[in-house]
Amino acid sequence: MKIVTSVHEMRDLSMKERSKNKTIALVPTMGYLHEGHLSLLKEGRQRGDMLVMSLFVNPMQFGPKEDLAKYPRDFERDKKIAERAGTDVIFCPDSGQMYPGPFKTAVEVTELSGVLCGKTRPGHFKGVTTVVMKLFNIVLPHVALFGEKDFQQLVIIRQMVKDLNIPVEIIGMPIIREPDGLARSSRNIYLSADERRSALSISRGLSKAMDTFKTGNRNSTELISIVKNEIKSSGLKEDYVEVIDECTLEPASATANNARIVVAAYAGSTRLIDNVSLEKE
Ligand code: PAF
Repeated sequence: MKIVTSVHEMRDLSMKERSKNKTIALVPTMGYLHEGHLSLLKEGRQRGDMLVMSLFVNPMQFGPKEDLAKYPRDFERDKKIAERAGTDVIFCPDSGQMYPGPFKTAVEVTELSGVLCGKTRPGHFKGVTTVVMKLFNIVLPHVALFGEKDFQQLVIIRQMVKDLNIPVEIIGMPIIREPDGLARSSRNIYLSADERRSALSISRGLSKAMDTFKTGNRNSTELISIVKNEIKSSGLKEDYVEVIDECTLEPASATANNARIVVAAYAGSTRLIDNVSLEKE
């Protein structure tokens, strides 16, 4: 496995592979890998001749009061996990490589970026789309893989790819959960034992809403209340619970074919997100 830190070296390597008609798969990450990333890497391994994992904690997607400085990092551990998953290249530039000098351009999917998480995290998705666009231009992947846990991010990236005719196939991968239901996230490490117990109310609420949905109840307000009550009674602070249309992210009826319940809530100061599709499960 190669470790590449320079933008030029990464692009040269990708251009060589492309000239040999090799397919490049990219798994963009901010490191501190967990089972969710592993599932992306495994799928990426199947889809590309060369599997590149980028590891870059992107300052542009953190707000001034967010956890950039304390975002968990463990490069040696990530390296072992990535290698075991069959990664060919870790592209891990520093901020100077990614943002040299004054940076004057941004890519923003305006409408979709201001709702849901975008309300509490203004500018976050602009940082995500800008760095992902840069990664696409540097790594030149044919295919890139993202987790459905960050569902809004996935929808926004799909929209960016469509709107800007970016020749990259976007693959969304299902949420990977802890055995007790908590959605895997690098931020779970911040949770105290008590917060972790309370955090389980998110997946519990979603699965109760899902059970109700499966009995034929298509009342969005009732489904939302089930989740809200569950997280409230365990002491979490709700940010939002909504039933949305999977393409537009707008509030939707639970009767719609592509409806999804999305949640964001705080366990202490840790912001957690989760979601479940109302058609597939
Ligand atoms: O989902 C993440 O880890 C990040 O938002 C991403 C896509 C790697 C961009 O920094």
